[in-house]
Amino acid sequence: MIAARGNALPKSVAESTCQGFPQDWLCLPIRDMVEGIVRIFLELHSFRESTTMKVPSVPTRGRTLDHAAFVHDLTDPLLLMGKRADYDRLILQLLELRDSDRVLDLGCGTGMLTRMIADRLSVKAGGYAMGIDAAGRMIRLARRSRGGERCRFEPAAAEELPFRDESFDAVVSSLFFHHVQLDLKLKAFQEAFRVLRPGGRLVVADMHVPTTWMGSLVSHTARWFFLQPAISENIRGVLPEIMVEAGFPPPVHVCTLFGYVALFKTEKPLMAA
Ligand SMILES: C[S@@+](CC[C@H](N)C(=O)[O-])C[C@H]1O[C@@H](n2cnc3c(N)ncnc32)[C@H](O)[C@@H]1O
Repeated sequence: MIAARGNALPKSVAESTCQGFPQDWLCLPIRDMVEGIVRIFLELHSFRESTTMKVPSVPTRGRTLDHAAFVHDLTDPLLLMGKRADYDRLILQLLELRDSDRVLDLGCGTGMLTRMIADRLSVKAGGYAMGIDAAGRMIRLARRSRGGERCRFEPAAAEELPFRDESFDAVVSSLFFHHVQLDLKLKAFQEAFRVLRPGGRLVVADMHVPTTWMGSLVSHTARWFFLQPAISENIRGVLPEIMVEAGFPPPVHVCTLFGYVALFKTEKPLMAA
């Protein structure tokens, strides 16, 4: 199950993060589903308020999920085989967070991961998490259910980030890159490179070359069901080479989960090449 390559990540991290990761995808925790249903009811309840607090979406050629923001927290656990919490914890481990870290989450959706990151940071120490998404409705939901002093959300396109150079210690992205085509993938990685300080970490979890028949089935079904050619690019395995093209050292492929979601880690070099 572990498909580790390269040697930039300490072995202990790769081992502790991936060994024993549950593969029993049939066992969907009911808790995640219930949480999703509760959120839908909360959303319905505050419908009137929501119409008065619109957040404008940002133009992009990427596949945004404005229309699906409402059900995102319900469908998301299904895509991750009911293992969302374990998956987020693994990403957190790879981020190796410090209290004072400023962390940017690209394509944050309703901000589940962003919030988990923020909960490990300290405002006093200068730490905060910033989630961006091009879909205004995602940002509105994220702000309302997960926003706070150390957990901020802004509408923005990953390929054109509204942040200063070297203003983040870490950039993370979960299940975003299969929503944008090749040129935008490159621009988004170039933007991540620009806003990271030298030595800053990049952690990416996304669809990649499937490693099991089930992973292959899920990936190809998603590609044709959603009519999303950007998924084909991910399945072909383009992500590592695009990260390198954007200026990052070759990423460590930490592992592949569920047979189709790969986790990558790399760092912006301390010295310019
Ligand atoms: C599958 S969701 C992932 C959400 C979240 N990261 C997670 O792991 O649950 C992909 C998100 O990317 C957003 N998106 C698509 N194109 C984008 C772009 N060009 N810039 C920023 N966000 C974009 C969509 O609106 C959607 O919320």
